[in-house]
Amino acid sequence: MQDVYFASTDTIATTIVWAMTALIKNPSMLKKVQAELRSALPTLQNKAMVEEEDIVTARLPYFNSVIKETLRVYSTIPLLVPRETMKDCTIDGYEIPAKTLVHVNAWAISKDPELWKDPFEFKPERFLEDERIFSLDLKGKDFGFIPFGAGRRGCPGITMALATLEITMANILYLFDWGLPDGVKREAIDNDISPGLTLHKKNPLLLVAKKFV
Ligand code: HEM
Repeated sequence: MQDVYFASTDTIATTIVWAMTALIKNPSMLKKVQAELRSALPTLQNKAMVEEEDIVTARLPYFNSVIKETLRVYSTIPLLVPRETMKDCTIDGYEIPAKTLVHVNAWAISKDPELWKDPFEFKPERFLEDERIFSLDLKGKDFGFIPFGAGRRGCPGITMALATLEITMANILYLFDWGLPDGVKREAIDNDISPGLTLHKKNPLLLVAKKFV
């Protein structure tokens, strides 16, 4: 139970921090995703928050691309969970004995320049402009994009992860306008990370929220 608890809370929280980091550094994208949400979702007349049913029925292509691009650029679990080979095998001429510890570099895979143009840039549009990228499955079928890993040890919480990311991000972006504290410049927001299984932002992200509705 403890594993599931950490695997579900830490990952979603850190992904949201990175999404907000990318958006605050790219004000035009922040504006675009908020405009999409605020026009596609019903006005919140009798309720305080966006609810899941609002999201399920709305068309939110840019918002969904922001989530995918966050998972691509800031690979939440960059080296996945370590594996061990079950028997001897040969890959590209290299003989790998049984019981070898294997780390899959999902971070590097999602920056492969053969698949991703300008791989280090945060560009949600890439998922809308390129049919090949748009149709990539992020649930482990396409090995070029495996933010949730793949195979039998792949993340069992994908559905909950995406649903929670969507509802939380939708509320954060719909209900508030976001800015920087006085005196802080956009360029000062860094992408430094602290070591660990999950890719955490080293320096906390401090933003100012202003209620929109
Ligand atoms: C943004 C959210 C999340 C991301 C990016 C994420 C990503 C991952 C990744 C990359 C792995 C390793 C997969 C592999 O090695 O092939 C993993 C494993 C795991 N995840 Fe998630 N996850 C998220 C949310 C969740 C949620 C919501 C739950 C449960 C409710 C969950 C439960 C687990 C568990 C139990 C494992 C270990 C599976 C095993 O080792 O057999 N995760 N996750």
